[in-house]
Amino acid sequence: MCPPKHFTVEYAINPWMDTTVAVDTALALQQWEELRTTLTGLGHVVHVLDPEPGLPDMVYSANGAFSVDGTVYGARFLHPQRAAEAVAHQAFYLAEGWKFVAPAQVNEGEGDFAYLPQAHGGLVLAGHGYRTDPAAHAEAQEVLGRPVISLQLIDPAFYHLDTALAALDDQNVTYYPGAFSPGSQRVLERLFPDAVIADRDDAEAFGLNLVSDGRHVILNTEATAMGRKVREAGYLPVHVDLSELKRGGGSVKCAVAELRP
Ligand code: ARG
Repeated sequence: MCPPKHFTVEYAINPWMDTTVAVDTALALQQWEELRTTLTGLGHVVHVLDPEPGLPDMVYSANGAFSVDGTVYGARFLHPQRAAEAVAHQAFYLAEGWKFVAPAQVNEGEGDFAYLPQAHGGLVLAGHGYRTDPAAHAEAQEVLGRPVISLQLIDPAFYHLDTALAALDDQNVTYYPGAFSPGSQRVLERLFPDAVIADRDDAEAFGLNLVSDGRHVILNTEATAMGRKVREAGYLPVHVDLSELKRGGGSVKCAVAELRP
């Protein structure tokens, strides 16, 4: 995670960002801290990346890389405003001794990649349409040695895979079908017949931008209906208020880069 010390909305690269509305950085920091202590309180170890001035989106650390079984596939941002974030993430992984592979293709890390270790022997789900280049899906498959399922995003409000789909545990997902092309919806139905289906309101409340440890599902406070859906499916919803981070177009999942050693 990376604290939103320099968080602002000074450019608009997704439909949620409005540069005319001031961001409350102190509130963003307070809410981020609440998310961090929620995760540590549940027994998770949180590494903190130093925030850098001039990189207002650095709080969305999920975009910095994608790791599977100790191998890290680095990010390469589409927008120049975020390009330098990839360097900070790379330095973190190299310092911690991970096997790091620099990408040739544009991809925004866990923003567009999800991993299901127990689904069909270990599956990577990958989004394209707005940020990550489909060529990065093939590159990730080579680097990680896992089948990569390409899914096409078709609604600009849900520009990263992690705004439209989330892993609930090692084998099941939740997603909002309307964010995907008809063919991608059929692929998801085939792969995940028991998926928890979300609707547009859930997605707009950033209810799919969640982090799950297989039991606890951490999600935005606004996503009350989504909280009920995951509870009915047997998980324990834990709500955290991240209203300020929504102004940049992100929530819980965007703020957490999961480490898979
Ligand atoms: N403002 C950031 C962008 O548009 C938000 C990134 C949200 N992160 C995510 N994993 N969806 O790039």
